[in-house]
Amino acid sequence: MKSLTPKLRSLSSGVATLLFAMAIVTLGALSWTNVQAAVENTVHNLGTAGPAGSNTFSGTADVCVFCHTPHGGSTDAAVPLWNRTLADPATYTTYATLNSATIEGAIAPVGSVSIACLSCHDGTQAMDSVLNEPGSGLTNPTFGGGTWTGPNVNIGTGEMINAPNLGQDISNDHPIGIQYGGGGLTAAAPSGTLADEDFNDASFVDINGTNVFWVETGTNTTRDKTDMILYNRDVTGIAGGLQPFVECASCHDPHVEGTTTFLRTSNDNSAVCLACHNK
Ligand code: HEC
Ligand code: HEC
Ligand code: HEC
Ligand code: HEC
Repeated sequence: MKSLTPKLRSLSSGVATLLFAMAIVTLGALSWTNVQAAVENTVHNLGTAGPAGSNTFSGTADVCVFCHTPHGGSTDAAVPLWNRTLADPATYTTYATLNSATIEGAIAPVGSVSIACLSCHDGTQAMDSVLNEPGSGLTNPTFGGGTWTGPNVNIGTGEMINAPNLGQDISNDHPIGIQYGGGGLTAAAPSGTLADEDFNDASFVDINGTNVFWVETGTNTTRDKTDMILYNRDVTGIAGGLQPFVECASCHDPHVEGTTTFLRTSNDNSAVCLACHNK
């Protein structure tokens, strides 16, 4: 796959685009429903129609609203139309505090998509606290009332508890806000060449004048939701502008159905770990 010439790569992506366009024509109005069908059937559906036995809130049957809003979203994080208040990055204790002698990548403050996940998964604010509740009015925060049920929510406060709650000390979790490739791309970035052979190559493509990066897990050369997605961060002191970083959603897709842990790809034989680490 990595020996494909640029011409072949663009040909295969052209075919993919064509197939995608044909799929849209065929499915028409069904395509949005398909997106919802995935999240809807996962424990990330916190509305009244969430899966039996999971955490649900009686105030709405909306699925997306706990995370996204069409208007009035947060501009504090690089997450699309984010409907939640984000904590001060300084409130988190990160992996960096362990002073691991073998870390080589640059470390950014908690941010990007990770801080959005943590707006529920740090257990410090009600999961029904949003910027724009359902219905007109740009109001917050309580959906006009409602109650929680479920195994992993504090019924009284609406905050996450038990195993899914990572807390604000994330020094015992896989590092996030960490530059990919043991020091990232070479000085001539973006060239696609990694500075450290302990990592597999990252792929990239220019979208609207910005290079976006991912680690391929399949056999094609296009960026898919089952690939390990890398997120651009601009870290002071690093040459080459935006650099690819590992965040929560590099390994997890919060919308994906059919896995209890929202992993982008199965971790059988540690496939998630080996997608990035050359071990
Ligand atoms: C609106 C709140 C909210 C946000 C934001 C959120 N989650 Fe969750 N997540 C939950 C809840 C609630 C559960 C557990 C549901 C249950 O137990 O019924 C959960 C469960 C999970 C689980 C499965 C946990 C387990 O014990 O099996 C993973 C993994 C996960 N979330 C990852 C993420 C990631 C990664 C992000 C960001 C990309 C994210 N979540 C954003 C509310 C949220
Ligand atoms: C539990 C939180 C959560 C819920 C619920 C959720 N999303 Fe997301 N969504 C996220 C996060 C976090 C991101 C950014 C992470 C990423 O890059 O995939 C995101 C990204 C997106 C994106 C842009 C990236 C992509 O994958 O295409 C779209 C579009 C989107 N969400 C639509 C929806 C829709 C529509 C719904 C409801 C049917 C929904 N989301 C429900 C958390 C959520
Ligand atoms: C490098 C990959 C990777 C990153 C980055 C990552 N996770 Fe995970 N996460 C995993 C894997 C793999 C599992 C499944 C672990 C298992 O099966 O026990 C998991 C499990 C979880 C669980 C379930 C609890 C558990 O430990 O089993 C939650 C909740 C979760 N992740 C949330 C997050 C959040 C929030 C972030 C960002 C702060 C994050 N993850 C970052 C790989 C990752
Ligand atoms: C999306 C890519 C990616 C995935 C997937 C991934 N990692 Fe990592 N991991 C990294 C990066 C980047 C670092 C930071 C390494 C550095 O800068 O030296 C890291 C750091 C680590 C470290 C700490 C190394 C140190 O020197 O302190 C361990 C241990 C680790 N990963 C194990 C795992 C395991 C186990 C999995 C699977 C559950 C996994 N990783 C999945 C990218 C990834």
